[in-house]
Amino acid sequence: MKKLRIGMVGAGNIAKAHLDSYMSNPNVEIAAICDFNEATLKATADKYKIEKAFLSEKEMLENVELDAVDVCVWNCSHAECSIMALNKGLDVLCEKPMAMNAKEAEEMLEAAKKNKKLLMLGFVTRFSNEAKVTKDFIEKGYLGDIYMAKATYVRRNGNPSGWFSDKSRSGGGPVIDIGVHPLDLTRYLMGNPKPVSVYAATYDLLHESRAKLRTKAAWMPAGANPETDVCDVEDSAVAIIRYDNGATVLLEASYAINAAPKCERNLYGTKGGIDLLDGKLILHSDVNGFMSDSQLLDLDHMKESKGMFKAEMDHFVDCCLNKTKCMSPAEDGVEVMKILDAIYESARAGHEVIIK
Ligand SMILES: NC(=O)c1ccc[n+]([C@@H]2O[C@H](COP(=O)([O-])OP(=O)(O)OC[C@H]3O[C@@H](n4cnc5c(N)ncnc54)[C@H](O)[C@@H]3O)[C@@H](O)[C@H]2O)c1
Repeated sequence: MKKLRIGMVGAGNIAKAHLDSYMSNPNVEIAAICDFNEATLKATADKYKIEKAFLSEKEMLENVELDAVDVCVWNCSHAECSIMALNKGLDVLCEKPMAMNAKEAEEMLEAAKKNKKLLMLGFVTRFSNEAKVTKDFIEKGYLGDIYMAKATYVRRNGNPSGWFSDKSRSGGGPVIDIGVHPLDLTRYLMGNPKPVSVYAATYDLLHESRAKLRTKAAWMPAGANPETDVCDVEDSAVAIIRYDNGATVLLEASYAINAAPKCERNLYGTKGGIDLLDGKLILHSDVNGFMSDSQLLDLDHMKESKGMFKAEMDHFVDCCLNKTKCMSPAEDGVEVMKILDAIYESARAGHEVIIK
């Protein structure tokens, strides 16, 4: 079978998680890598024994025959790097969030359509065991009609600093960085309804006091310093998103807040509800005239379980090589980007924002 020749765009933390997954896929050849940070480029290229390493995507695309690229750079470069590869006739996997704003996201989608190439979004939680099992329960009717959801990603003291807290490179704070995960997942599980309006507030009150307490974490970018790095992003946010079918989602996202950290997705339907917790699923339903809560066991031992990043990368490769229908398409990235834009706009304006 022909191997998919992938070029990595970006060699930082998430690129390494992607590479770990590609390395165990026999249908992949990592043909090249690029990053404009020379030290990061060298360290990752050496670690994964990638011989062709470049300081820019342009140079990589001009010098190496590729089938696809995987875009793992700062948010401010997602659009430019994805469009450059699509215009070269390559398939693209782009990390979340899709771009800095919906306008850029729409330009990316246009480039994919124009070149008839795949643009897949790295909405990795769609590929988790919990999501797969929940989708199955929903499709079999256990939840009935889902009319409300909660999307929660709360870090008590988890601003990564570096480019993440610099709005000109990230586009925003916890809303666009981590809130995007449960926001996308709840929408995906609700059947991808169209967003129609958003009411939101963001706060920036705890960054300075928290920065002094922060210790270095593995997911912080190279060279990040919480005490001295620029921080002009929100540290917490709340939003209500309304969809065209009348369903609503309550989003809560924070880098810094006086609350216990949690990552939860809760779906409420006419027949049942489900809580997707970290590695745990609780089903709320009525059984034989009694209200009942059941925890689904053995999620990690599901036959097809391979970890969400591995499942995501394998799916991308399968879509490229076999034209399998993509389960995380660019169209969804655009809709989520419109919600993210509306959250920031509503917070700024102080009133509800209508999404067209
Ligand atoms: N799916 C997830 O759970 C998840 C987790 C972390 C990060 N991410 C996303 O992955 C992306 C990268 O995050 P990270 O944590 O790896 O950051 P990082 O800083 O560790 O790595 C990004 C790398 O991109 C390089 N870079 C930036 N712009 C470039 C450009 N135009 N050309 C060449 N190189 C460029 C930087 O030098 C850096 O080495 C972000 O979009 C982030 O939102 C996703």
